[in-house]
Formats: sequence, structure tokens, C-alpha cells
Amino acid sequence: MTEPEYLADLLLSAGRLADERWRDGLLAVPRHLFVPARACAVPDRPRHAAFDIDRDADPDLWRETVYSDSVIAVQVDGQGTWTSSCSAPGIVVPFLQELRPLEHHRVLEIGTGTGWTAALLSWRVGEKNVTSVEIDAELSERARANLEAAGYAPRLVVGDGAKGFAEGAPYDRVHVTCGVERVPYAWVEQSRPGAVMVLPWSPPWGPGHLARFTVAEGAAVGRLLGSCGFMMLRSQRRPLGPPDGAVEQRAEAARSVTRVDPRTLVGDAAGLDLAIAGLVPGVRSLLEGAMDGSVRLWAISDDPAWATVDFVPGRAEFEVRQHGARRLWDEVEAAFLRWVGWGQPGRERFGVTVSAEGQRVWLDRPDQPLSLA
Ligand SMILES: C[S@@+](CC[C@H](N)C(=O)[O-])C[C@H]1O[C@@H](n2cnc3c(N)ncnc32)[C@H](O)[C@@H]1O
Repeated sequence: MTEPEYLADLLLSAGRLADERWRDGLLAVPRHLFVPARACAVPDRPRHAAFDIDRDADPDLWRETVYSDSVIAVQVDGQGTWTSSCSAPGIVVPFLQELRPLEHHRVLEIGTGTGWTAALLSWRVGEKNVTSVEIDAELSERARANLEAAGYAPRLVVGDGAKGFAEGAPYDRVHVTCGVERVPYAWVEQSRPGAVMVLPWSPPWGPGHLARFTVAEGAAVGRLLGSCGFMMLRSQRRPLGPPDGAVEQRAEAARSVTRVDPRTLVGDAAGLDLAIAGLVPGVRSLLEGAMDGSVRLWAISDDPAWATVDFVPGRAEFEVRQHGARRLWDEVEAAFLRWVGWGQPGRERFGVTVSAEGQRVWLDRPDQPLSLA
């Protein structure tokens, strides 16, 4: 059995590969041509630590990793944050399956990275039909060489993918391989009615969602199909820690208590994450745990405003502090109670519409947008 066959079987048994055509694609476009000699890998399983791979020092480990379900970082910035990677095959294939490109489709890809997915798309629809945009010129150049080694030469564009690439429009498919909080309307404008866009929709509350949009006249209507985590579109990157100045502001923050256990509000239910993302858009969550079992939940917005709720084991009520232009805990708690009142709908009942006016989250039907008002 060849290594690409092994990878395809691995994905098949994990339920990640359902469409036979993409099995052929995995065999036709060998992943090792897209992974640099030295990189850092993380198996696509919870709580697995990153490890370095070096083709010269340990060729067996390098190859074994390339043909496993691992994300492989190929660029890291000065703060140690990953800025480009060859995404894990177990997420690449479901994205391509949801995209469902046909032979004649013109595809716009955002985030060329190593060029692996641009090659898979070129294999499927022909290189002349693929335009892939990458913000980093050096990465784009490396991708061009990788693609050439694999025998493909799609159109590679260096630029901000948030603007799409109008010259190549209209597109039938838009394949986005970086996280997106606010879907750029340019992608809708540059797509044909009926076009499909697949992207990691990543609001700042909770993990990201695999989203599949269909473009109608002037708007795209999307459904959320599963979880996924991707590095964000460059212009939509978010800070990771608590907000600046929060330590000094703590004493002057408004105090209250809540009976809602803050631990229930993050990562517990995708439907709740979506309700909060829709009812309180732009609000970021952050969870900090301590060895004694206490947990601090932050809600943070750019207004600027922040709130904290401190879970302490054994207590019936939890201290809330809120600071800034908005009372963020009051809003998040109201969103939580609204979701409970709706009967705790799951991810499959939510959707997102992107139009020239912006983006809105809805429950069950596009004409039922979420609002706290
Ligand atoms: C997960 S990687 C892409 C993986 C890639 N499809 C592959 O097969 O290797 C995300 C990429 O998106 C790029 N990116 C981030 N923001 C971008 C933007 N605004 N426009 C275009 N590319 C962007 C990053 O530089 C990075 O290379």
C-alpha cells in the first residue's frame, strides 16, 4: 500500500472521506510535495502536543507525519503564532466534499499556503479554472514551486483575499482556508448566483464552524455543518489574552452576582455558541482556569468593554465585574437565557446570511434574524 493510499484509508475509517473522487485526488496529489523539509506538526486530535519534523534528520518520522492526519505549520511569526500551515487532511477533505466542484467550475481559493489544496482543486476542475490568493508573497512563491513539482500551474495571486480577485470573476465555487469572522461581501459579488462558498466561519465566541453558503441574488445564505479551527484571515486576527488595562480597571468595574455557572457558556454546545455569536456579535470569550478548580470567564469587545465571571467551587453565586461602554455579561447572560428558552437548538438550526448590509445569524429561517431587542 502506498502512503497516500494509507492516508485515504485512515480518513475513510475516521468517517472523513465519503466521496470516492477525493480518494482519487489524494492519490493523484501527493502531500509530501507540499511540506517543507523542516516544519512543526500537530496530530488532529484533542490535547496532542506539537513536535518538529526534519526530513534530513529523521526522514521516516517526516514522511509518516506527512501521511497522517496532522496539521503542519510552515510559517510562525515572532510571537510564536502560526501564520501558515498545510491543513490536516481530515479537515481538507470534508471542506472539498462540501464544496462539490464540478469539472467546468471556476474556483476562487483564499489562502494558498503550501499550495496543496490549490493542487487538489486543479486536479478536480483543471488548473485553468483555479485562482488562489495568498497574502504572503514568499509563501505564494513557495507554493508555485510545490505546485510545479506536482505538475500544476493554477493562477496564483498575491494580495488580500478579503477583496477576492475581481479579474477572475464570476466564480462558481469559493474555497476559503483561513478563519473568517465577517464574510467579505466581495466574495458574494464575485460569485455567480447558485455558487457555493465553503469557509471556516469563526465568530469570536467558541470554536469555528464549517460553513457552506449558497449565493443568491445579492446575498449568500449559509448553514453550519460541523466544527473546525483555522488560523484567521490576516485582517480579522484577534488578540488572545485579556484586554489591555483590565488589571488597573478592575477596581472601578461594576460588581454584581449571577447564579449562572459561567463554565456552561463556553465550548459546551455549538448551538449556544451560535446564539451568543448572533445575539452579541463581536464579543470574544476567554476562559482561564486555576489549579484549585476556579475558572474565570471573560467576555471582551472592542467598544472597549469587558466582563468577568468567577466560578469558585462550592459557591451558589458567582461574582461578576463589568467595565466599559457595555454591560457585556448582562448581554451574554441574556443570550444564554434566550437560547435556553428556545429549547436549546443545535448548530443545524442556525444559519448566516451575508449581504451588502453585513452579516446576520438566524434561527431556522433567514427571515428570523437573531436580536436581543
Ligand atoms: C491554513 S493556511 C492555508 C492552507 C492551504 N490551503 C494549503 O493547502 O496549504 C492559511 C493561509 O491563509 C493565508 N492568509 C491569511 N490571511 C489572508 C488574506 N487576507 N488573504 C490571503 N491569504 C491569507 C495565510 O498566509 C496562510 O498561508
